[in-house]
Amino acid sequence: MTQHDLIVIGGGPGGYVAAIRAAQLGLNTACVEKESRLGGTCLRIGCIPSKALLESSEKFAETRQKLTEHGVKVGSVELDLATMLRRKEQVVEILCKGVDGLFRKHKITRYLGHARLAGSGKVSLTGSGGEQGLSAKRIIIAAGSKPASLPGIEFDGDRIGTSTEALSYSEVPGRLVVIGGGYIGLELGSVWNRLGSKVTVLEFLDRILPGTDSELAGEALNLFKKQGIEFRLSSRVIGARFDKSRGVCVVEAEGAEPLECDRVLLAVGRVPATQDLGLESIGIELDSKGHITVDDRFRTSAEGVYAIGDCIPGPMLAHKAEDDGVACVEGIVTGYCHVDYNLVPAVIYTHPEIAAVGKTEDQLRADGTPYHKGAFPFRANGRARTLADVDGKVKILADQMTDRVLGVHILGPRAGDLIAEAAAAMTFGASSEDIARTCHAHPTLAEAVKEAALAVDGRTISL
Ligand code: NAI
Repeated sequence: MTQHDLIVIGGGPGGYVAAIRAAQLGLNTACVEKESRLGGTCLRIGCIPSKALLESSEKFAETRQKLTEHGVKVGSVELDLATMLRRKEQVVEILCKGVDGLFRKHKITRYLGHARLAGSGKVSLTGSGGEQGLSAKRIIIAAGSKPASLPGIEFDGDRIGTSTEALSYSEVPGRLVVIGGGYIGLELGSVWNRLGSKVTVLEFLDRILPGTDSELAGEALNLFKKQGIEFRLSSRVIGARFDKSRGVCVVEAEGAEPLECDRVLLAVGRVPATQDLGLESIGIELDSKGHITVDDRFRTSAEGVYAIGDCIPGPMLAHKAEDDGVACVEGIVTGYCHVDYNLVPAVIYTHPEIAAVGKTEDQLRADGTPYHKGAFPFRANGRARTLADVDGKVKILADQMTDRVLGVHILGPRAGDLIAEAAAAMTFGASSEDIARTCHAHPTLAEAVKEAALAVDGRTISL
């Protein structure tokens, strides 16, 4: 039985970051990953390939529709989907190999195979070479999540699939039905809409993007409709199947005529991947949704076993898993750790992007927290004008008594990058006046953040 100080199960952003931090802190660390590529869902079939396709498809759409406005005339614009998909794969390959390099640099032992807990401090590894026993005083479970399914959906791994299939369609579907108007539905729906599909999003709720600020989600909905995506809200999908004889997919929603299409993307959330890990062998407790329950130092109900990332409660986001990983290891080594889950930013990489940190206006209203609100539209921002990218706004919510920033919500160009300033400011307990008095370079999109902060006190300069 091979002995380590720490074994991390899962090589995604939670697991590989935890392993690196542990090695930095002097632990003899191993990481078990069942896929040949390190990087987890995020690198292989999630964040990275989807952002590669979002970038490529946006360039295609921009070249076709927006360049003339800049005085750039192009001839006929054609899609080379095979090259676009190949580039996406190359990006993934480079980044996954980068994690291998980091493991070598930090002398982390990498095992390829499926890990199961096999008693206190013991892990059984099943790989191509058969079974192998590993042991460690500490074990971190970072097994991630997998797409949720719905009753009545007949997956065939091709026409009816999840985000994994939608990252690699070999041709542009004529009609694509997306079930779920959340992160994945809108990002991948945007990709195929830009590449020429007729995209219809069926969403159970009467709004898109549940959990995001409803005002901004409403504005985003109107922009996505203008881009040609069709939305059917308050639409509960109860079945989807591929009719082989007619060569079409049929999607059924409650109280509506069946919808025919060429492909179906199911994106109704993700569930923790906590099955087949041998958790029961040492009595690790799960909650009703299958998450591993942990305390504020990521300790499970079993001595020496910790869990982080998508397999514990909280937002299923790569950067949250990374922060969990670092905090968990630091907690193990030093006895202290902390992650502020109120300040985990969220970004949806549509065009325009949507980004947020802290409380939404809906939450503040529901909690009865008195707040001031400042908003500034990108149409009044010089840099956005020069980019010809003026849709959206920045909205800052600050405590009515103390002016402390409680939430920042951005719909607009590069919102995902702009939100970092808000997250940093809020981490330092900033007031809206702190942001307003910070010198922002001109002309930048970030000036819209400063102007929104000024607007909290009714003193925007540029509007
Ligand atoms: P999601 O939770 O964002 O959205 C799922 C949507 O499906 C919800 O709007 C829900 O109301 C709807 N829905 C549920 N049942 C339905 C039914 N029967 N018929 C119609 N609609 C139904 O989940 P999504 O988009 O699958 O993403 C999963 C997770 O992956 C997210 O929670 C997010 O954390 C993560 N993710 C993050 C990204 C980012 O950071 N940019 C990108 C993609 C995914």
